Amino acid sequence: IAAVFADGPLKGRHVVVTSGPTHEPLDPVRYIANRSSGRQGHAIAGALAALGARVTLVSGPVAIAPPPGVAIVAVETAADMLAAVEAALPADAAVCAAAVADFRPAERVTGKIKKIPGQPPAPIVLALNPDILATLSHHAARPGLVVGFAAETSNVIANAQDKLARKGCDWVVANDVSGDVMGGTENTVHLVTASGVEDWPRLPKAEVAARLAARIADALAK
Ligand code: CTP
Ligand code: CA
Repeated sequence: IAAVFADGPLKGRHVVVTSGPTHEPLDPVRYIANRSSGRQGHAIAGALAALGARVTLVSGPVAIAPPPGVAIVAVETAADMLAAVEAALPADAAVCAAAVADFRPAERVTGKIKKIPGQPPAPIVLALNPDILATLSHHAARPGLVVGFAAETSNVIANAQDKLARKGCDWVVANDVSGDVMGGTENTVHLVTASGVEDWPRLPKAEVAARLAARIADALAK
């Protein structure tokens, strides 16, 4: 079955989008995760597809359906997500909107950890997960445009500028998550690039996605 792509400025382009949380198992019944509905990342994937792009949406576990016209790759852990993103290359652009767990339990216990009455539970030792955005930004097959997100609760712009430099990506979409953004339908973001900061008004996540997709189309056209 041939996929039908919309006509638009991103026709012939391939964009990889990460979305949702990752789940990092501790044992067969428990995991560590970030809070993420996947709404913003999924909306971006849909908006890119609506402009004609072939979109690979690499998503952690979410409760929402993939937008029409995108190829979904469902993953669980950060390691899985990185492998799926690398397998999807080459791409013209990448948008890392996933809330990747920074840490995972260092050991994945095979059997369920049992509680022993009267005994304190064993501490969980954590290991650092790979950084998918940083890896992509320094990849031999680096997409021409790499976009990251920065969810911050304070010093939003300064932290986003720091992330842009540290990770080596081209743009950072910064958002203040100190309010009710997580899981909500609206988002107030700032587009941080090497050439400056653009403040966008509070918008529905679908509108943030549409604007970002249009900006990506403009950038790739240059
Ligand atoms: N990211 C990623 N892989 C990770 C961690 C983060 O790809 N292991 C990406 C996110 O998808 C996002 C960007 O990096 O696009 C910033 O994520 P964020 O959690 O804000 O930044 P961190 O570098 O993890 O810093 P911290 O959580 O300490 O603020
Ligand atoms: Ca993080």
